Amino acid sequence: MNNKQQLEEIEIRLLLDGVYEVCGYDFRSYALASIKRRIHKCLVDEHLETITDLQKKVLHDKAAMKRFLNTLTISVTDMFRDPAFFLIFRQQVVPWLKTYPFIRIWVAGCATGEEVYSISILLQEEGLNKVKIYATDVNEDVLTKAREGIYPISKMKEYTANYQKAGGISSFSEYYVAKYDHAIFNKSLQEHIVWAHHNLVTDASFNEFHLILCRNVMIYFNQQLHGQVHKLLYDSLIPLGILCLGTKESIRFTPYQDCYEAVDEKQKIYKKVK
Ligand SMILES: C[S@@+](CC[C@H](N)C(=O)[O-])C[C@H]1O[C@@H](n2cnc3c(N)ncnc32)[C@H](O)[C@@H]1O
Repeated sequence: MNNKQQLEEIEIRLLLDGVYEVCGYDFRSYALASIKRRIHKCLVDEHLETITDLQKKVLHDKAAMKRFLNTLTISVTDMFRDPAFFLIFRQQVVPWLKTYPFIRIWVAGCATGEEVYSISILLQEEGLNKVKIYATDVNEDVLTKAREGIYPISKMKEYTANYQKAGGISSFSEYYVAKYDHAIFNKSLQEHIVWAHHNLVTDASFNEFHLILCRNVMIYFNQQLHGQVHKLLYDSLIPLGILCLGTKESIRFTPYQDCYEAVDEKQKIYKKVK
C-alpha cells in the first residue's frame, strides 16, 4: 500500500469514528472496498476534495450527515427479486410454515419494502394469515417509503414478470391501484407488517422468529461483522427456524456454518439444526 492509500484509510477511519461518535451509526466494520466507493460518491455529490473535508461537513451539518447515511446504506431492491428464490421458498418453506399455528417473520434490512410486500403477497396467496412480519432497516428514509407502499408504475412490468416466475397464482395487478405514474399497493398487504428501525450492528435481538430474511445486507459487511450479525440472527431464530440470505451470500465460512442445514444451497435457504 502506498503512502496516499495509507493516508486515505486513516481519513476513512477518522470519518467513520466521528460518524459513530456523533450519531451512533457504526460503519467501521463494513467492507472497506464498498465503503471507499460510497465515500468517493459522497465527495462528488458534495463537491468536496478530501475525506477530511467530508468529515468536517457531515459532523457539522445535519442535512449532510443524512445524505451521507443514505449514500452509505445501499438500498437497491426489487419486488420478487431473484424469482427463483421465491419459487423455492413457496415450494419448500411454506409447507413447513403451515405446520405452525402462528408465525413470526423478521425481514432485516428491508430497504424500501419491496421484498416485504412480495412475502406478504406470497403468504396471502398461500392462506397464511396468522403471521406477523417485522420489517426493519437502519435507514429511516427508506422505512418511510416502505410504509407508503407506493412504487413507480414503470417498474410494474418487470415486477409482474418476476411475480409470475416466482410462482404467483393470481394477477399481479390485483395487488395495486395505478394512479398517474405510481402503483399504490393494497393496504391489506400491510395488515401483518410492523415497520421498525433496527441496526444489525448495534442493536440486540428483539424476538424469536420462525423465519428470518436478511438478504443482500451482509455483502457490505467485513468478515468480523458477518460473524457478529450471524450470532444475532442465530439467537433470534427458534430451533428449526429458517434463515434466508442473498444469492451472493452464504452461511459458509461463518462461525455458524455447522448450526444450519441447507434447505436449498443455491437459493441460500438454511434451517437451524443446532
Ligand atoms: C441492498 S438493500 C437489500 C434490500 C432487500 N433485503 C433485498 O434483498 O432486496 C440493503 C439494506 O440493508 C440496510 N442496512 C445496511 N446496514 C444495515 C444495518 N447495520 N442494520 C440494518 N439494516 C442495514 C440498508 O439500509 C439497505 O436498505
